[in-house]
Amino acid sequence: MMIAAILDKARRKAELSVEEIEALLSVSDQEELKALYDCAYFIKEQYVGKIAYFRGIIECSNLCIKDCYYCGIRRSNTKVERFQMDEEEIVREALWAHEAEYGSCVIQSGERRDEAYIALIERAVKRIAEATKGELGITLSLGEQEEATYARWKKAGAHRYLLRIETTNPALYARIHPADHSLEVRMACLAALRRTGYQVGTGVMMGLPGQTLRDLANDILFLKEIDVDMVGMGPYIPHADTPMGMEVPAYDEAQRMAALELGLKMIAVTRIVLRDVNIAAATALQALEYTGREQGLRCGANVIMPNVTETKYRASYQLYDNKPCTDENSSMCRGCLSGRIKGIGETIGFNERGDSPHYRRRTEG
Ligand code: 5AD
Ligand code: FES
Repeated sequence: MMIAAILDKARRKAELSVEEIEALLSVSDQEELKALYDCAYFIKEQYVGKIAYFRGIIECSNLCIKDCYYCGIRRSNTKVERFQMDEEEIVREALWAHEAEYGSCVIQSGERRDEAYIALIERAVKRIAEATKGELGITLSLGEQEEATYARWKKAGAHRYLLRIETTNPALYARIHPADHSLEVRMACLAALRRTGYQVGTGVMMGLPGQTLRDLANDILFLKEIDVDMVGMGPYIPHADTPMGMEVPAYDEAQRMAALELGLKMIAVTRIVLRDVNIAAATALQALEYTGREQGLRCGANVIMPNVTETKYRASYQLYDNKPCTDENSSMCRGCLSGRIKGIGETIGFNERGDSPHYRRRTEG
């Protein structure tokens, strides 16, 4: 089927098949790309509007018990200087985000499951919720945990959780992770998060070695099938001190542009297929090109995650090479991103939690 016909079908709200989704992801002609992005933007305007929501991201620790072959803070990377923020630091940065009129914060870290850590997060979340009278949305992105832990953090005041599935192809998942990292456990965690009552976000990396467009089309259908509220996905970018990064030289210009294009197409097609979810323009897009994140918004994303981590920790939270904003501070990122969003004619949802319309529809029936 021609691309224009598939996009027409999408605008008429018809369901797209896996073949049609794959066809959209394979577009490379400039005019067809423009038609794809315009269609995604049209659907974005209809369902979520031209408002970009800010989520201040606090990268509160790079300690990690996992050893993913792609990730710069994997436990076997001895070159990383490890850090762990204390409760005061986490709360301070969340309150900074609130003062800066961000509707939400995201607390992210490497994975830890010990009681000291669980309790630290629990206390920090509780204090943030109390100090901001529940105004500041609190999203967690702290990996695989017991359902009871998810429930404790929810009770403390968190209401959204991000846990990327990374890829839904079991063979590919097995190639990019050690044997004791399990796709089934990841899926079970997403189900547990849903049961616990969180707004659930997940997503994948695109451009992984050996990943096909059919894989990515299946990933999008998976997001639809599990009925996610939020999507966070980004281009895979090699990190030189990881097993996967060591196998290839750093991306050249052409590879960066190809990775960016694939990232933007995934955002666009996800918007077209899922419609009313929140979709983040991943920071990794900006590692490929300076304007990558606003390009993400132009292609259908509606959430951006300005870094609010204290500058001294930023360089130690390099999940991939060339991560932006590591020398900047939180005010600089606020000013910088605000200008860029105005530059593309959108407004910023200051002081609004910006819950996913999909979550509202799902829960209010
Ligand atoms: N390139 C891109 N994204 C990465 N992540 C981890 N390592 C990389 C990399 N090398 C992503 C994973 C993880 C999220 C926090 O960061 O998808 O879920
Ligand atoms: Fe951080 Fe531009 S977004 S400096």
